[in-house]
Parts: sequence; structure tokens; C-alpha cells
Amino acid sequence: MKKGFVFLFLFSSFLVYSILVYTKGTKANGKTMSAEAVRGKFLYQKHNCTACHQIYGLGGYLGPDLTNAISAKENSEIVAKALLKTGTQRMPDFHLNENEIEEIITYLKYIDETTVINTITE
Ligand code: HEC
Repeated sequence: MKKGFVFLFLFSSFLVYSILVYTKGTKANGKTMSAEAVRGKFLYQKHNCTACHQIYGLGGYLGPDLTNAISAKENSEIVAKALLKTGTQRMPDFHLNENEIEEIITYLKYIDETTVINTITE
């Protein structure tokens, strides 16, 4: 009989926990991803930026981690835009148009603003 109660308790705890987790959604720090940021994310995936860059430490190691790339320095956004426009010796030019560059920057900003790393180091 006791075992039955333990089982019931664990089962209902798990059920409540699952409902909470699955209804919470995917908002990070209460921020939803804008349509522009979503398009930027698709571009990031399409051009396989992750082959050379990490986000939250995951990805390739040829280029720098991009989690906080936009807020790292005062001119980071300008540098990022210029890099995306021309490429460098080590980073290819993806022939992105102004809109696409803007979308990728918006995506990188979204990651930057919602990052947990920021709140820990502040
Ligand atoms: C072949 C590897 C490679 C790929 C693919 C690549 N990058 Fe890079 N990226 C680099 C390297 C290397 C740097 C550092 C600048 C340099 O030394 O050329 C860099 C720098 C950057 C920077 C500046 C970061 C900083 O903190 O200065 C941004 C932003 C960036 N890349 C975004 C992207 C995006 C977005 C994509 C996909 C569209 C992409 N990269 C694809 C190699 C790559």
C-alpha cells in the first residue's frame, strides 16, 4: 500500500513538473524572438556559421564565440556588419545583402540580450 502512495506521489510530481516545463514556452528572459531575428537565425543556419563560431560555447573554433559579440565593445556592431559585408582572409564573404546582414545582427543581438552569461558577470 505504501509503495502505491510513493508511486502516486512521484508520478503526480513528474506530471506537474512536465506541464510547467512544456507550457513555459521558449522565451528567454521574457523576450520573444522577433520575425527579423528568426530570419537571421535561418540565415545563420543556411550559411553554417556554426562551423566556425560558437554560441554559448557550442560550435566550431576557427572564429570567436558570438554569444556576446554585439555588446563586447562599443563598436562591435559596426565591426560585425563590416565583416559580414566583406568577409576576411579567414571568414568567407557570403554575399549577403543589407537586409540579410541586418537580420543576422538582430539575431545576434537577441542572443546577446537574452544570454545568461550577461547576468552572471554583471
Ligand atoms: C570559415 C569560417 C567562418 C565562417 C563559416 C563564418 N565565420 Fe565569422 N569569423 C571567422 C573568423 C576567423 C573571424 C575573426 C575575424 C578574422 O580573423 O578574420 C570571424 C568573425 C566574425 C564576427 C566578428 C566577431 C568579433 O567578435 O569580432 C562576426 C559577427 C561573424 N564572424 C559572424 C559570422 C556569421 C553571421 C557567419 C555566417 C553567415 C560567419 N561568421 C561565418 C570565421 C568564420
